[in-house]
Amino acid sequence: MTRVTSSTIWPADPRGLRGDAPLLDACLSFLEAVQRPFTIPGHKQRSDLVGTVIAGDVPLYAGLDTMTPSAGVLGQAERRAAQLWGAEVCRFSVGGSTHGNQALALAVAQPGARVIVSRSLHRSLLLGPVLAGIEPVWVRPQVNPSTGLPVAVSVSDVEAALRAHPEVRAVFLGDPSYVGTFGDIAGHARVAHAHGIPLIVDAAWAAHFGFHPDLPLHAIAVGADAMVTSAHKALPAYTQAALVLANTDRIDASRLERAFGATHTTSPAGAILASIDAARSLLERDGEELVGHPPGRCGETATESHRGSGRARRPGRGPQQARRPARRHRCQRV
Ligand SMILES: Cc1ncc(COP(=O)(O)O)c(C=O)c1O
Repeated sequence: MTRVTSSTIWPADPRGLRGDAPLLDACLSFLEAVQRPFTIPGHKQRSDLVGTVIAGDVPLYAGLDTMTPSAGVLGQAERRAAQLWGAEVCRFSVGGSTHGNQALALAVAQPGARVIVSRSLHRSLLLGPVLAGIEPVWVRPQVNPSTGLPVAVSVSDVEAALRAHPEVRAVFLGDPSYVGTFGDIAGHARVAHAHGIPLIVDAAWAAHFGFHPDLPLHAIAVGADAMVTSAHKALPAYTQAALVLANTDRIDASRLERAFGATHTTSPAGAILASIDAARSLLERDGEELVGHPPGRCGETATESHRGSGRARRPGRGPQQARRPARRHRCQRV
């Protein structure tokens, strides 16, 4: 019987990231040692049952860490990500941005509360309030008259909604939009904070924002209280991989933790988590170079799309700052 490991198929760590990525290191160490765990997963790393489809599948518990996680490798990896994005809290999810968005909806308001929600958000942020029993106050994105495409929700529309509904407990927006345009998240943060409530941004497609001078800063860097992003979309991580990043001035950290745990599997796939850690390490070290060279026509399309938003790419950043390397992009809270 041949033992199936990820390195049987692809090189295990082609860019030498494991020294800076504790979960990746734990995952590779598990796969390198010949182990036949007594617990899950049921395939026991055997290749003679269902074949390569399970290659590299390692659980977090009794895999990357002990059953009652004593090494704390997940926490170590999450702290590195929190530091990179300038957040106090980071959680890695194997449930995609869908899970992160729903956890945040549960975290920020009690049943019966009202929250401002952009009508053009992904279903996870439309269903999040349903799960949480909170009531949406809808705001709509503006439409670019020349293309007919939805652009961004204006700050003045959110301000007006807050004046009309002072009882609102949070603002949920999606940025960038499905068509690649982005809005004034710093302005939205100022308005939300003036009302003493958190701004939550679904940045599912923007895990790379803030890591290249031609891209907008990410939502946390410009003042959002929480941001959710899919590592599997813009970063080279496993499908389902996502991050929840939050600062806790206006978000109750313990409520967020309970909401996250209540909606997450109790058997997270270690390989998915390790791929988030590896992608974080790669982004931190080589992000500016890699983000600056998107493959072929992809780059041209993205540039056109951002141009379509009609916004300066990085308001307030001079050429000096724009030349900073990505590894120094550890962001300060605004
Ligand atoms: C804007 C937006 N938010 C959230 C999600 C959910 O992300 P995931 O598929 O990682 O659960 C998607 C998925 O495409 C999305 O487009």
